[in-house]
Amino acid sequence: MKKVLLITGPAGDAQGWGDLSVTQHICQAIIDTGNDAEIAFVNTMEEFYQAIEEKSYDIVWSALYHISSKSETIGMSEGEDNWLADILDTKKIPYIGPNAATMKALIHKTHTHQILKEAGVSVPYHFQIDRGDDLPDLDYPAFVKPSYESRSKGISDESVVNSREELEKQVAYIHTEFDQPALVEEYLPGQEYTVLMLGNGEHQEFLAGRVEVDEKMFGKYPILRADLRGVGVTKIRPINHMTKSAVQLTKDAMEALNCLDHVRADMRLDANGKLKIIEVNGIPGLKPIKSWSPQMFTMHHPSQEGPMEDYKHLIDHVVSSALVRCDLA
Ligand SMILES: Nc1ncnc2c1ncn2[C@@H]1O[C@H](COP(=O)(O)OP(=O)(O)OP(=O)(O)O)[C@@H](O)[C@H]1O
Ligand SMILES: [Mg+2]
Repeated sequence: MKKVLLITGPAGDAQGWGDLSVTQHICQAIIDTGNDAEIAFVNTMEEFYQAIEEKSYDIVWSALYHISSKSETIGMSEGEDNWLADILDTKKIPYIGPNAATMKALIHKTHTHQILKEAGVSVPYHFQIDRGDDLPDLDYPAFVKPSYESRSKGISDESVVNSREELEKQVAYIHTEFDQPALVEEYLPGQEYTVLMLGNGEHQEFLAGRVEVDEKMFGKYPILRADLRGVGVTKIRPINHMTKSAVQLTKDAMEALNCLDHVRADMRLDANGKLKIIEVNGIPGLKPIKSWSPQMFTMHHPSQEGPMEDYKHLIDHVVSSALVRCDLA
């Protein structure tokens, strides 16, 4: 039996798999599947150091990329000294999930796009626009979003821009509202899919799903606006004929980014029906039944006992894969 130290804090929902109640579900699932777990809810760097130094455990699993007192947004580390994975690496403490370099690339959507593009993995055209930057000449429509947020923060029908004037307005909105660079990319009008990478090596699986939303919920554009997230309106469905290409695209992306244990790629079809990655999530949501990762696991591996039992198997798969990878099994 091994013990997992689960790290979360005020930003657990914005940055990671969900709020404290989700961490409690994960903790219970680890215990129910034969390992042990304890939660450290940390508000400050001091509390994080105290937790990793004073508690006894075999491996860490964190809902946080960096310590932040903000509960609504991810924001970004000002200094380079509060990335949890960096600290765990320095102290040679094993942890679940991708390494520090990958985590930093994943949280920053422009960096993710750059790495994928260089590796020949298909992504939309993209420009990062900082405050004061000139606007690029673009093919419209384009899509404008924050560079490092989740849960569709900052995304509405206004995110799709059809002229330079609209682009200028939406880029200014991102700068003012989120105090971070705007990411301007090709608007992908087609169906949205998501693919989960679970485990590593011979125990690795890729679980694919189509993201379905009742069409009546959409406004001008078929996009997952902020008001459609976290309210139970997105459902994961089988994707059928697109499965092979969605899984291959995800495999290529995960390899280029060196992803480990439990990572989810979101993608859409462009105007020509070609799949392109929109983002890769280093700490996918784990709200039982509601988040896409548990929904996908249940769709592919339904047990007789139902989704809460499937949830335990999903958590156990992630933990077991990481224990094997870290030579702790
Ligand atoms: N280039 C694009 N073209 C069309 N729609 C897009 C594009 N980029 C994002 N979207 C829409 O906005 C939603 C949120 O975008 P994205 O997945 O990049 O951000 P997120 O907020 O980090 O999501 P998550 O909560 O999955 O981490 C997507 O699910 C999709 O519906
Ligand atoms: Mg997404």
